[in-house]
Amino acid sequence: MDKLVVHGGSTLKGAINISGSKNASLPILAAAILTGEDCIIRRVPDVSDTNYMIQILSALGADVERSSGTVRITCADIMDEAPYELVRRMRASICVMGPLLARKGRAVVSLPGGCVIGDRPVDLHLKGMKALGAKIEMEGGNITLTAPNGLKGAEMDLRGESGPTVLGTDNVMMAATLAEGTTIINSAAAEPEVLDLANFLNSLGAKITGAGTRRIVIEGVKELHGVEHTVIPDRIEAGTFMAAAALVGEGVTLNRVNQEHLTAITQAIVKSGHIVKFNEAGDSCFIQRGENPIGVDLNTSPYPGYPTDMQAQMTALLALTPGISVIKDSIFPQRFMHCAELKRMGADIKTDHGMAIVRGVKELSAAPVMASDLRASAALVLAALKAKGTTEISRLYHIDRGYEHIDEKLLMLGANVERVRV
Ligand code: UD1
Repeated sequence: MDKLVVHGGSTLKGAINISGSKNASLPILAAAILTGEDCIIRRVPDVSDTNYMIQILSALGADVERSSGTVRITCADIMDEAPYELVRRMRASICVMGPLLARKGRAVVSLPGGCVIGDRPVDLHLKGMKALGAKIEMEGGNITLTAPNGLKGAEMDLRGESGPTVLGTDNVMMAATLAEGTTIINSAAAEPEVLDLANFLNSLGAKITGAGTRRIVIEGVKELHGVEHTVIPDRIEAGTFMAAAALVGEGVTLNRVNQEHLTAITQAIVKSGHIVKFNEAGDSCFIQRGENPIGVDLNTSPYPGYPTDMQAQMTALLALTPGISVIKDSIFPQRFMHCAELKRMGADIKTDHGMAIVRGVKELSAAPVMASDLRASAALVLAALKAKGTTEISRLYHIDRGYEHIDEKLLMLGANVERVRV
């Protein structure tokens, strides 16, 4: 139960490297189940979510070695039941379901519980598995999927009420790689992390086209083989540091980014009056706080729209930006837990029905605050950097789920922060 103590008022300056993407790493690690050969995956961030995934794979019987960002996984012999104790800790563990079902013809996975950002169903994952011919039973909080004669390619539409599903698309895509015949996923998620998974699967020998668009076609193959892969940069970590640089920066450079993946975030920060410049290769960006920042309206939507995972951090920036900003989260309408904590620091925010109306204030004051989920805690760190006084952010394990060594990166940029082990 570490705490982050942030002494507000310092400015950020200098350069850091952005880590590999957490959300791309999780399904890619799970996809190693699809082959009995060695998979070497590079730039896997050292965060607790990837550690949980590695623990789940080990518990399933995989041989896993990890050293400084490189993970080697061999799933020569694998079990088909994911352990509840590990699975319940992380929703993304649902993405072992597709690979287990495809490789073993049976998968038992605990139903993930709801979480603080709202009810998070898996109906679309199951719809896809059913279309591929899996028989589904639910009992005692477990989902058992069986396909003793193998999966069969099918055409399906995975659109839910809030649009496509990222992990649902991943799960079905992974399962369909070993199905007999052709699978077509309509209304697929087009996030860069889905494309990275498809690239990984294709280098394992899968035949996937259209990933990164709303229609993915998968020609089933008989088996997959081992491979080496480097995970894409984490666009949400990059966006978080971009927002921090816009809030308290005096010129911050972020290396190892992907400009294209950051388009919506860059547009929002530039519209709010700050300067963002990419190098010619598009893999490094420089952020300079603008002289006359102004509020902006935001609405989250599936990629290439503005990401829900960058809503809380932008809310923190806008809470300290002159003008009124209206922020809507169409993907997770209940994702405004950070607003209550920001208000305790003096922010002027009204939340109502999936929307936050933010009136920028001149300053925030330090207060003891509690992280409630991963991105909400990042928002609190941003607010604390600017606040007057010393803020203690408890429940730091939320931030450690998805940000690699955030305290060290902030220290490198000149922030006055310390991790306190409680
Ligand atoms: C992934 C990301 C998460 C991000 C989210 C949306 C990972 C590990 N996590 O989560 O950080 O916030 O995408 O970009 O990559 N839905 C259904 N039925 C389902 C599945 C989802 O109705 O079976 C709904 C959800 O409630 C939500 C929307 O679809 O409103 C999108 O969720 P989804 O894309 O599935 O989120 P995850 O893949 O779980």
